[in-house]
Order: sequence, then C-alpha cells, then structure tokens
Amino acid sequence: MCGIVAYIGDKPAREILIEGLKRLEYRGYDSSGIAILNESSYIAKAVGKVAVLEGRVRSDHPEGVVGIAHTRWATHGRPTEANAHPHCDCSGRILLVHNGIIENYQTLKRRLESQGHQFRSETDTEALAHLIESHYEGDFESAVQKALLQVQGTFGIAALHRAHPNEIFVARRGSPIILGVRDGEALAASDVAALARHTDRVVYLEDNEVAKLERGQFSIATLEKRAVRREARAIEMDAESLDCGAFPHFMLKEIFEQPEAVENALRGRVNPSEAVSKLGGLESVRERLEQARHLIIISCGTSFYAGLYARYVFEALTDLTVETELASEFRYRKLNIRQNTVVLAISQSGETLDTLAALREARRKGALVLGLVNVVGSTISRETHAGIYSHAGMEIGVASTKSFTTQITVLALMALLMGRSRDLSYEEGLALIHGLEEIPSQMRQVLAQNERIRELAAKYSKAEHFLYIGRKYQYPIALEGALKLKEVAYIHAEGYAAGEMKHGPIALIDPAFPTMALAPEDGSYDKIVSNIQEIRAREGKIVALTTAGNTRLAGLVDDLIEIPRTKDILSPLLSVIPLQLFAYHCAVLRGCDVDKPRNLAKSVTVE
Ligand code: G6P
Repeated sequence: MCGIVAYIGDKPAREILIEGLKRLEYRGYDSSGIAILNESSYIAKAVGKVAVLEGRVRSDHPEGVVGIAHTRWATHGRPTEANAHPHCDCSGRILLVHNGIIENYQTLKRRLESQGHQFRSETDTEALAHLIESHYEGDFESAVQKALLQVQGTFGIAALHRAHPNEIFVARRGSPIILGVRDGEALAASDVAALARHTDRVVYLEDNEVAKLERGQFSIATLEKRAVRREARAIEMDAESLDCGAFPHFMLKEIFEQPEAVENALRGRVNPSEAVSKLGGLESVRERLEQARHLIIISCGTSFYAGLYARYVFEALTDLTVETELASEFRYRKLNIRQNTVVLAISQSGETLDTLAALREARRKGALVLGLVNVVGSTISRETHAGIYSHAGMEIGVASTKSFTTQITVLALMALLMGRSRDLSYEEGLALIHGLEEIPSQMRQVLAQNERIRELAAKYSKAEHFLYIGRKYQYPIALEGALKLKEVAYIHAEGYAAGEMKHGPIALIDPAFPTMALAPEDGSYDKIVSNIQEIRAREGKIVALTTAGNTRLAGLVDDLIEIPRTKDILSPLLSVIPLQLFAYHCAVLRGCDVDKPRNLAKSVTVE
C-alpha cells in the first residue's frame, strides 16, 4: 500500500528519497511523487512505476537537502498525477504525504471550501493540507497537532513548510512511521525497508504521536503536546533480503528460501527429550493458555488460509474448540468472548488494518490476544498480550510464500505446546517433532522439481480457469494454490473442499477447465480419488499432486507431481510448494509483473 519516505540532512534529498521509494515498491502502488525544499520548492509526480518519477527527477536534478516522497495506492480518486502526493495547501507552502484514510474528509472539505480553500485533487489527503493551513499562525508543529486532532480515520504523514526549512513533521495513527537518525541527518519512513541502507537503529512512533525531525536529531510528542522519550532499537533485517540476487524475481527467491525459513522457525523451539515445543513468547501467558477452552483465529488473505490449517491442527492435537474467521468479518460480529477464550491474530506484516481492528475488539472484550507475526516490532506484535514471530525473514514479493510455510510450522509448534499440556501423548508429540525436523530437506526435494513444474505451467498457462480441490489438511492448500494463481498469473481459479464438488463446481468441468487435485496418500486419499474419477468422467484435465511412489493414479490423471512422504498433518508444508512454483511460472509465461501484481498491495493498511 502507500509508502512514505522523508529526509533532512546534508546530502541531495533526491537520491535518498528515490532510493527509499524503490525499497517501498514491493508494497504495491499506482503512482508516486516527491517534494524537495529549495528556493522554489520542487514537486514532481508520476503515474505508474517509480522509474518514471526517477527519470523526471534525474533530468530536473533538483537541489535541496530536505524532502518527502510517496508511493500511492489509490483509495479516494483515480491514480492520476493530480491525485498523487505530495498535496499542498492554497499557498503552496505546506507539502504533505499521507498513508491511510481520512474518514471525515468530506465534512472537513466542505467546511474548508466554505472558508475559501481551493481544492485541486479528489483525495482525502488534500483536506489535511488545507486543515493544517487553517491552523497555521507561525507555529508549524502546533498547526499539525491541531489539525490531526480533528481528523477521524487513520494516518501516517510527513509534512513540510517552506517557512520552516529545517524541520519535517511526521505523525501516525494506525499507519506505521519509523524514524532513523545518524550524524547530521534524520529519516522517516512507513517501512523499515526504506531505512535499512542508512541506519541500523530505528524508533517506532506510536499512535497519536508527532515527531519533529531535524538534522541529526528528533523529538516526539503526543497530539496533546506531552513529550515522549523512546529508545532506538536495532533493525532486524539483513540487507541481502532487499535484493533478489541470482533469482529473476523475489517471489522465486522466497519460494526457494523456504527450507531455510522453516529451519529458522524451528530453531531452538523444539525439545525432543520431552516431546514439547518451547515458545518463549508465550511463557508469560502459560497459565491462561492451560485454562483456555476456545481458540479463535483471525487473519486475512494467505494468513487466513494458515488459520484454516490451524483449525485442523489444533483440533487434532488439543481439546480446544477452534474457529477460524476472516478479520474483516470478525470485527463486526457480536462476539461471545469469555475468560477462557484465546484470540490468535496471524499476520505476515503485522500491519493489516482489519486484523489489527479485530484484535483490538477481542482485547476490549477480555480475550487473551496472541499474535503470530513476521515483521518484528510491527503494530500487531506490539498490541497483543504475547506472541511468536514466524521468522520467515523479510518477504518482498507481494504474494506470500515463505511467510505461509513458516506460519504453518509455528502453528504446528503452538498446537504441540498446548496439546502436550493436555492429553497429547509423548509418542505423538515426538513423531510430530521428527516429522517437522525432516521438512526442510524434503522441501529441497520438492524444489528440485522446479523445471518439471515449469514445463507443466507451459502446458496449462493458457487456461482461463482452474479448479483446485483438496480435503482436510489439503483444503486450505487448495484455497492457497488457487489464490496464488489468481494473484500473480491473473487466471481465474477457485479452491474447493473436494467434497463440495458435486454441489456446483462440477457443472463447470469440461476439457478446457483443468483441475489441480491435491491427493497425497493420507487419510482422505480414497475420497479424493473418487472426485478425480468424477472429473475424469466429464473429460476434465487433471494435474494431481500425490506422494512419491504412489503408482495408483497413473492412467487416471493427465499429469502428476510428487511430494515426499510425511505425516498427514505436515503434508501442507510440502504440497503448497509446487502450487507456488506453478503459479509463478504461469505468471512469467503470461508476461505478468510477478512481484508487483496489478491492484495488489503487500500490506493492506486500509479497510
Ligand atoms: C495482502 C497481501 C497478502 C497477505 C494479506 C494479509 O493481501 O498481498 O499476501 O496474505 O495481505 O497480510 P498479512 O500481512 O496480515 O499476513
């Protein structure tokens, strides 16, 4: 989604801001813009890639060591240059970039227009620029604070004033802002990726705080003007994750990083001698976890499918009643949360607005709220009672891959932890640990089939539609496989519980509507073979994924993909990989922008 970079220092701001915007491209955007303070204040905007903006800035070569920049993901108003940020007040002296949504902008805009303010864009953000102008009486900080107190909705902002060329104000409510300072310079961004090249220590703003950036220093205050002191913390990111190295795309690199990511997610977290998992982040809430009766898992997108998987796993390993719910639905339900209800929010970014709002609602109602998050220090990780990191490492491709498999790994560890304090036996616990420990090397065997899967993609990439079917542990994987194909290859794909086939999807089957059938030799194998027979009888093409060595499907399906044998409960960790690779290769063959699919954002910070 939208991204912000701000810089004040002694170097040309254009280089640092454009480089920062490039680091934010992965989040998804449709236009971009930059403002640099110099004698006349320079503004440039462009629709489409940051490279277009970069070209303009390179040829204009603006001087200036103070500036702000933005990538926009349209919410209010089309992706045009007029709607791209920065936005200005009437005088053109106040320059503003904004992430989030100003919910009361129409009321504010009407009032400001009646006072004579002239609007030039269709955005909600412009109202804030004029609102700051209406409060400005020589004290920029105070005008920013007063304006933000009148705003309903969410914001991360960076603002400049030509009369105050030695300061930048940034503020947040519900949309991240991170500060980085080094000798003679200060930076801010909405994502640590834009700061990692410049500093290794950062400060996270909290909601309703404003920070003043000056050369080499910053100060933080609340909107009510109470001063805040906050220590800097180390950035947990290796610079390597910002480049795709020998791989043509981040998505492929991240698919191939999965064995190592799962190793990291497991490291130091299993104790085979007692057949338990050790999750330090949950230590502080151990008693409440032991008393828990009811688990509700909330999340969005791919993280929601990890949550669906978790429902089966927790039901298998514990005696908890488990519900999995889309965060966007959960937050508006009437909730019956009791003292022994645990709510688990799953999120790669830790910033997804619906997930955050849902966990706040659960917390308000008295639930123990836990997080399974990838981005260290993110808002969700800070707002839960306790939690665990998935340790996937930074994920840049918009389509989630290694985040999903590390989420699944950690969910299995959590279920093991809770199961072993209930009635899960030592033998069962130990078998799960042994299974998990084998997964990274088994993943490598699956990845070795990359070329074969590319050939399959070449055979099927012209399909207009695809059906994905699976049962039990493979049902969430069918949904995730279909999502991958939709989001990166723009092929219409539907994931279905195979048992639902006869209730609708089978009507679609014909020789031009292929099916991906997830059929490892598990407890549901015979049932899914019946579904395969039904598709075959209607001349549907079938690609089946099964366990290595299973010869029973040959002759029944058109193409076979094999995965190594593992416990049923862990097979999603292997079966999802060919589906990720299949979607990736289809996307490349169809000429799609794999790492930045159209209309999508890596982190969805609006409702
Ligand atoms: C966006 C991303 C998805 C992700 C979803 C949830 O839609 O494109 O890849 O699964 O948000 O994000 P989260 O960060 O909460 O896991």
